[in-house]
Amino acid sequence: MARILLGVSGGIAAYKALEFARLATLGGHGVRVLMSETASRFVGAASFEGIVGAPVLVSEFERDPMRGAFPGEEPPGHDPIGHLELAANCDAMLVAPATANTVAKLAAGAADSMLTTSFLACTAPRLLAPAMNDRMYADAATQANLATLRERGVEVIEPDEGRLASRGEYGRGRLPDPERLLARAEAALPAGERPWDGLRVLVTAGGTREPIDPVRFIGNRSSGRMGIALAAAAARRGAEVTLIAANVALPEPAGVRRIDVESAAQLAAAAEAEFPRTHLLLMAAAPADFRAATTATEKMARADGLELRLEPTEDILAALTATRAEGQTIVGFAAEHGGDGVDRAREKRQRKGADMIVLNDVSDPAIGFESSENAVTLIDAEGEVEVPIASKDAIAEAILDRSGQLRAKAGGPAG
Ligand code: CTP
Repeated sequence: MARILLGVSGGIAAYKALEFARLATLGGHGVRVLMSETASRFVGAASFEGIVGAPVLVSEFERDPMRGAFPGEEPPGHDPIGHLELAANCDAMLVAPATANTVAKLAAGAADSMLTTSFLACTAPRLLAPAMNDRMYADAATQANLATLRERGVEVIEPDEGRLASRGEYGRGRLPDPERLLARAEAALPAGERPWDGLRVLVTAGGTREPIDPVRFIGNRSSGRMGIALAAAAARRGAEVTLIAANVALPEPAGVRRIDVESAAQLAAAAEAEFPRTHLLLMAAAPADFRAATTATEKMARADGLELRLEPTEDILAALTATRAEGQTIVGFAAEHGGDGVDRAREKRQRKGADMIVLNDVSDPAIGFESSENAVTLIDAEGEVEVPIASKDAIAEAILDRSGQLRAKAGGPAG
């Protein structure tokens, strides 16, 4: 767990800082928040306080009830000099969003608020995520200020190009997604501060396509969203993550190595090659169970009709668990249709030799496949834990938490 100091200045993108605080807290970090006076016109301190579980500070003359401690820590017995304490105690400081005005103040070394004073006094890695109107961002003054900050070792997270807050405006100035901000902040943390430093995680995601002829295939509806959320969550914890993506249209999370595959055979080959160096395998992909026994080399004509003979594909998960070495943890997934799904998943866990099975009830249209939400049951040798409906990011964190506990029980190095 690391201590992340978040500075929020006053722009419309301040709402994304709430999501950043939520993801960072979910990821096990202690987060303290400093807001500029104007930030509180956009989002309320109470929202941050509820999410991180600690008071928000605005003025450098304010008393910090936690005396510079981060969530999860005991406040010290003495009352330190408040405005320097959080900057001294954090492992990284991120200002997001950083408005043009705040960027200018930080470049000038101003210290007229808790946020600017802390930034000036902070010797931990400092990151800045500018977000503003594209013309303000492109202006020579802003660019010079950012160049100055970069020269001084501040990591500037470039804004994205896209639709801006003002109606009809498009350009560079959007605050990147909170997941990306967190990945950058975590990547800047000193080694050893991240809970999964040194752990190698292999995630498979998406659904395979089994060719019938050069243009047709048998596929399934897996979008890869759950696997992407798992890869992102593991990378946030400091793990070295490889993602084997079967026909996934989504981008891979920052810092994740991606291997694209199409068919179950390609997925099997990639997974077999990667598995020996893996500590934790998260087999979230949906490989086809059957493929065409023969594949036509030319596009088949409709007039000729089509009769398909299918043959089963290899059970990749079972094949991998059969070769497992000590210290490897294996998590499989099962999509079942209501009813006795838990019994079937329990049986599947044993048959495939996985440490845990993540059970998805695909009869519920509110979750699964294309949805950004999910609800799962985690089944391991000790029993079941239900994870109620939540975002796939939160579900991913719950799966990683449980995987980490299983590794710890087995004497694994991290988690
Ligand atoms: N799996 C795999 N190789 C396959 C099919 C599935 O490795 N050819 C993995 C999936 O990635 C998942 C787990 O096995 O982690 C369970 O998938 P599921 O499709 O439920 O398993 P099946 O073996 O197809 O189960 P069933 O007997 O219900 O068909």
